[in-house]
Amino acid sequence: MPARSKRLDRIPPYLFAEISRVKAELIAKGEDIIDLGIGDPDQPTPAPIVEALKRAAEDPATHSYDESARGWPRFLSASARWYKREFGVELNHETEMMEVIGSKEALAHIVWAFADPGDVVIVPDPAYPVYKTHAAMCGAEVYTSPLLESNSYLPDLGAIPAGIAKRAKLFFVCYPHNPTGALATEEFYRDAIAFCRENDTLLIADMAYIRVTYDGYRSPTVLQQEGAKDVVVEFHSLSKTFNMTGWRIGFVAGNPDAVAALAKLKDNIDTKQFPAVAEAAAFALENVSNEETLALYQRRRDILVDGLNSLGWKVKRPKATFYVWAPVPSGCTSADFAKLILQKAGVLCTPGSGFGEAGEGYIRMSLTVRGDKDGERLAEAVRRIKECGIRFTC
Ligand SMILES: Cc1ncc(COP(=O)(O)O)c(C=O)c1O
Repeated sequence: MPARSKRLDRIPPYLFAEISRVKAELIAKGEDIIDLGIGDPDQPTPAPIVEALKRAAEDPATHSYDESARGWPRFLSASARWYKREFGVELNHETEMMEVIGSKEALAHIVWAFADPGDVVIVPDPAYPVYKTHAAMCGAEVYTSPLLESNSYLPDLGAIPAGIAKRAKLFFVCYPHNPTGALATEEFYRDAIAFCRENDTLLIADMAYIRVTYDGYRSPTVLQQEGAKDVVVEFHSLSKTFNMTGWRIGFVAGNPDAVAALAKLKDNIDTKQFPAVAEAAAFALENVSNEETLALYQRRRDILVDGLNSLGWKVKRPKATFYVWAPVPSGCTSADFAKLILQKAGVLCTPGSGFGEAGEGYIRMSLTVRGDKDGERLAEAVRRIKECGIRFTC
């Protein structure tokens, strides 16, 4: 067997190995683990979308390669109409959009379409790891912008050194934010656009959670801001919005040159999604509202946040995403604290340090807990944490 590429060795080691080991050990002993680690909708895809897939799969027109330039035209035009309805922005689905096989691959591939060795890629910390992993594999210089609670988990644009900014090809942002649940303001987006314009940088906005919002809150998008199309591409996904993570479908929207660059790369990698999936996804965007699932997450959020706060914890109530970002007791690492809660209470949380150095000091708890009907597993998690006697000391 020949050696793997050196580039593959730039992927950092799996940080949750110890937690996974303890989890496996406890499960083998027959313990009931409440898994708040996974960020994957536990509810099924709404039945009308599954029915739409069945109908589309029976149509032989969906059985061959999708030879369109940018993706299944009915999916792209439905995506453009959805965007206009939701965010009030017109998009040309032939030049400013493309279909992708879930946003993860597209977020990875945009780096390969733009970054050469020696270029700078600015990534937030903590963050979804894909941005950094691919920037490192490309040989780009990764500049991490810490997202601090004191700055509402927004990057401090003024703290990015001018020399770094000038060499930055890409700047990743993600709001509503995984893992902190933080939100962006329109003002931040305007500043980020100005920063990218000044430095000839492409702003990559990961919008995976744009419609996972509560309490009537609606998140702004970058493309709503003036001049955004000059420097921005947004990455959208049906995964979290419609409980469709396994279906692998999303779209990219924004600057036509950036979309064209990604399309050129992907034309040489994949041959697009199964058209029946794209057809069903178009149906979802046009016909389905997932408000019921959002209402369920909201009830679970309140049970968890109120419960933990009643124990004296200081946990913020997120207005978006399905993550609760909780501080760990001082003097304790997030990995140690996650291990302690798992061993003592049988509740699995993700250590914040797994999302980057600035995630140290926090754990992430997901509201997409499997086997839960209406919040009873979250209530049980709070009860167990209370009864096991964890008192914010390690
Ligand atoms: C912040 C963020 N972006 C993108 C994705 C990828 O989603 P998908 O590839 O299913 O569209 C995820 C998935 O967990 C995520 O958390």
